[in-house]
Amino acid sequence: MEKEAKIYVAGHTGLVGSAILRRLQKEGFKNIITKTSDELDLTNQAETLKFFEEEKPDYVFLAAAKVGGILANKTYPAEFIYINLMIAANVIHSAYKTGVKKLLNLGSSCIYPKFAPQPMKEESLLTGFLEETNEAYALAKISAIKLCRYYNEQYGANFISVMPTNQYGIGDNFNMETAHLLPMIMRRFHLAKLLSDGDFDSIKNDLKCYKLGWGLDEKIDFENNESIEEALNKIGAFRDKVILWGDGSVYRELMCSDDLADACFYLMENKDYQEIGEHVNITKGDDILLKDLFEIVKEIVGFEGEISYDTSKPNGTPRKMMDATKIKSLGWEPKIPLKQGIKDFYEWYKTL
Ligand SMILES: NC(=O)c1ccc[n+]([C@@H]2O[C@H](COP(=O)([O-])OP(=O)(O)OC[C@H]3O[C@@H](n4cnc5c(N)ncnc54)[C@H](OP(=O)(O)O)[C@@H]3O)[C@@H](O)[C@H]2O)c1
Repeated sequence: MEKEAKIYVAGHTGLVGSAILRRLQKEGFKNIITKTSDELDLTNQAETLKFFEEEKPDYVFLAAAKVGGILANKTYPAEFIYINLMIAANVIHSAYKTGVKKLLNLGSSCIYPKFAPQPMKEESLLTGFLEETNEAYALAKISAIKLCRYYNEQYGANFISVMPTNQYGIGDNFNMETAHLLPMIMRRFHLAKLLSDGDFDSIKNDLKCYKLGWGLDEKIDFENNESIEEALNKIGAFRDKVILWGDGSVYRELMCSDDLADACFYLMENKDYQEIGEHVNITKGDDILLKDLFEIVKEIVGFEGEISYDTSKPNGTPRKMMDATKIKSLGWEPKIPLKQGIKDFYEWYKTL
């Protein structure tokens, strides 16, 4: 990408889009366009095409999407399929219509079949049934991959698709009802540590920054420390212990969003559709036992109580790992070690 190129980051307020934006700014790109969903609703075909016609971006990072956890995906499948299909179709078609030089489309590992062999290779796409809980979201994401592919094949476009593993990082969601794994457990340990220190001022500050979810926030009496402690106990944070779901025997992969932004930037700069093919996994190709992850987070937060497991709650899939062979062969590897990434993430979280 030329330094003066016009770059549109769709979804720049999100976890992934904000990391891409930070990276572009760090690299010295100045001609970056961003729009919130209030300013430009990408599900609106006419507005999206008008925006592309007026702005004529040279490069596009497509990180705008409606995303959510299992509960949201199960409750609102129609919204997940409609919004994500519309965003993908409108952005990809408008990019083609206005001559965008290159577009990078972000998908996710949920595109792979539920029983795909581990680690999941790119070739596993559409070889089996999807996980039912997020089928709607996955179908929209698979359609986005196919849109890119067919626009490349029919129109000679250069639209690339990347499928990243689970992310954490600056701008993450810490609502205990909807957060992903790492922010969820980190906040639980953090609140337990503050409870064990009797530091209710810091707890109140934390509760002002982030909701607990589960309808708990509205019930807290902020003048009464017992009422605060009761709410924290309900999310598994106690003075002397932290309660975690399952038994910690399953494996998960985690990647810092700055690493993902590095991969996106690298591919945008160096690799075209012909070299990448239909899509590529963005993964380290290794994972961690949750029990070990919990110990690392506990140590980083400095909580000295116990870890207790609520084995009445599900463990989830035993292992969900992506294969890193292709991304490695394209010349990219992640740079941020997990422990360092978690330390930096915790430091950032504490500054809020
Ligand atoms: N987070 C992960 O662990 C992870 C892992 C793998 C892949 N991914 C992929 O990365 C992409 C981004 O995920 P994320 O975690 O960064 O999501 P996120 O934090 O929820 O951010 C979503 C972004 O999309 C924008 N957006 C949503 N609806 C829009 C609309 N109708 N019009 C315009 N903009 C809209 C939001 O803008 P506003 O804030 O202005 O509403 C926000 O900037 C997704 O495709 C996801 O599948 C994420």
